[in-house]
Amino acid sequence: MAGNTALRTFGKHWMKPLTLIALVAPFAFLAWQWTQVLTGINPRAMGTDLVAYTHHFLGDTAIRILLVTLAVSPVRDITGWAPITLIRRRIGLAAFFYAALHMIAYLWLDRGWDLGLLWEDMVLRTYIMLGMAALVLMIPLAVTSTNGMIRRLGRKTWDRLHWLIYPLAILAVAHNLLMVKIIYGDPLMHAIVLTVLLGWRVARWGMGRLRPAAVA
Ligand code: HEM
Repeated sequence: MAGNTALRTFGKHWMKPLTLIALVAPFAFLAWQWTQVLTGINPRAMGTDLVAYTHHFLGDTAIRILLVTLAVSPVRDITGWAPITLIRRRIGLAAFFYAALHMIAYLWLDRGWDLGLLWEDMVLRTYIMLGMAALVLMIPLAVTSTNGMIRRLGRKTWDRLHWLIYPLAILAVAHNLLMVKIIYGDPLMHAIVLTVLLGWRVARWGMGRLRPAAVA
């Protein structure tokens, strides 16, 4: 009973602000590392390659937050705690924010805003093309993430549009897998987590079909 009240209080007052703090933390951490380097407090805070460190850090953060977004429904199904879905949109938006920063960091710090070079990269390296496709698919989801847009589109259309999260998550993980010669470590872990999360949905859908239809 006391546990239930505590959970309700947490859901009502703490869940949203704490999620926001957790989502902003990686950005604050990166900004702090840059500050240390630029002010000379710790010139080696990000190792020797600041540019690679920055866009790798942002890419890893984006993909992990994307996977957390996909974990919200399974957590709700397992725990039965429905209020957790109230933070799904802000987590998804944060994934887009970090993915966009990751692309900007690459394009700015690595390629000096040369779109010709980006185009060459995309043609020569399949994984860059996949990353770009994932980012492009994230745009309609980010743009329609407000309550006003849900109202305007209607819940059904909005839900259908948000199915894009599945292909885009597959593209993002494929982007991560194809950039390495030997698949192990983080890219492998991201692929396993995505497979489990998508597998959960397929299993839930399959169980829904097996259940006998309710008698009206
Ligand atoms: C225009 C879009 C994108 C471009 C140009 C791009 C480019 C890159 C590049 C050049 C790398 C480094 C590869 C290497 O060092 O071999 C990278 C790594 C990565 N990217 Fe992207 N990317 C894009 C979109 C995305 C998106 C949408 C996600 C995830 C949501 C993502 C997640 C990652 C991850 C996880 C890594 C590996 C980081 C690490 O090695 O620690 N990228 N990306």
